[in-house]
Amino acid sequence: MRLIVREDPKAVAYYTANYVRLRINEFRPTHRRPFVLGLPTGSTPVEVYWHLVDFYKRGELSFRNVVTFSMDEYVGLPKAHPECYCSFMHRHLYDHINLRPENINMLDGNADDLTAECQRYEDRIREVGGIELFLGGIGPDGHIAFNEPGSSLESATRVKTLAYETVLANARFFGGDVDRVPKLALTVGVGTVRAAREVLLIITGAHKAVALAKCIEEGVNHMWTLSVVQLHPSAMIVCDEDATLELHVKTVRYFKSIEQVQEQLIGRQNIGLKGSISRLHHGSTGTPGAQTSDSQVLTDSDMSSAHSDDGMSTTSVTPTSPADLPADGSGEDCAEPNNGHSPAATDGTPF
Ligand code: GLP
Repeated sequence: MRLIVREDPKAVAYYTANYVRLRINEFRPTHRRPFVLGLPTGSTPVEVYWHLVDFYKRGELSFRNVVTFSMDEYVGLPKAHPECYCSFMHRHLYDHINLRPENINMLDGNADDLTAECQRYEDRIREVGGIELFLGGIGPDGHIAFNEPGSSLESATRVKTLAYETVLANARFFGGDVDRVPKLALTVGVGTVRAAREVLLIITGAHKAVALAKCIEEGVNHMWTLSVVQLHPSAMIVCDEDATLELHVKTVRYFKSIEQVQEQLIGRQNIGLKGSISRLHHGSTGTPGAQTSDSQVLTDSDMSSAHSDDGMSTTSVTPTSPADLPADGSGEDCAEPNNGHSPAATDGTPF
């Protein structure tokens, strides 16, 4: 697991959005091989979505061959209700990008048969080949999606009763009135999140510091469902300094040192997006200075995922050789890093 610590929620949002952009561009999705993205609601991802919209408007990211799955939905809230997660996703993201309507998947909290609706969701995820990247937030009680404490770590999409703490936390979206917060929700399961090929969690604020500490410094435990990321082969948490308040200093230093050591000894350009060491020059001893020689063996494709000062790349993918083309070899319907839209207004408002 990787823990990326950034100064504040703004830096966390940018890092996360940029990471999503890079992963999608690196994947080079096609109509036949789309990039399948799981997405959360909550206040934490709002700024991430703002940046994704901005990247789209600048022509740096296309959602044409992206398929999305929202994580959860309240039961019984009218679709037009502003706090319905369907309205939320449209308001903050879907209405502003080139996602095809048929590629948007959401749970219907008003379905006649809620169990069948959950099964339909799981089937649909399987049908599109599984989730490539699950972006998630957490509640202060460490829940992912609406997998409240005590959820089975093998759980699939299902109906869930919300914990009182979650109802209290979410009352802020319902005028502070606990009675107006739905008490039931549909949610992807912990098992559904685990099955994603990569999981990226964003955690900000001191109120989530206990959850973060429980989840990464203690054992895997169904009372802190986020802790299941310890079992995931490709998981990353991006958090701000406030969220680290309950972690041991040693833990924070350890994770920060991984980034620094990799940068100094291996060279950022040799670190794959998912944190693996993708390329090391023959004879490199992993000593400072090695990155100079490493850079000599970089391909264009490596450069496309090379990291910038923020630890992330700022270049988009341009296929340069047959080896760089999508795995199906067709190059058909390729992602369009430049989607023809004019650059966003520079007033900082993507929409
Ligand atoms: C709700 C959602 C979760 C989300 C959480 C965090 O409980 N079901 O998916 O992660 O809110 O919300 P916030 O980002 O507002 O703290």
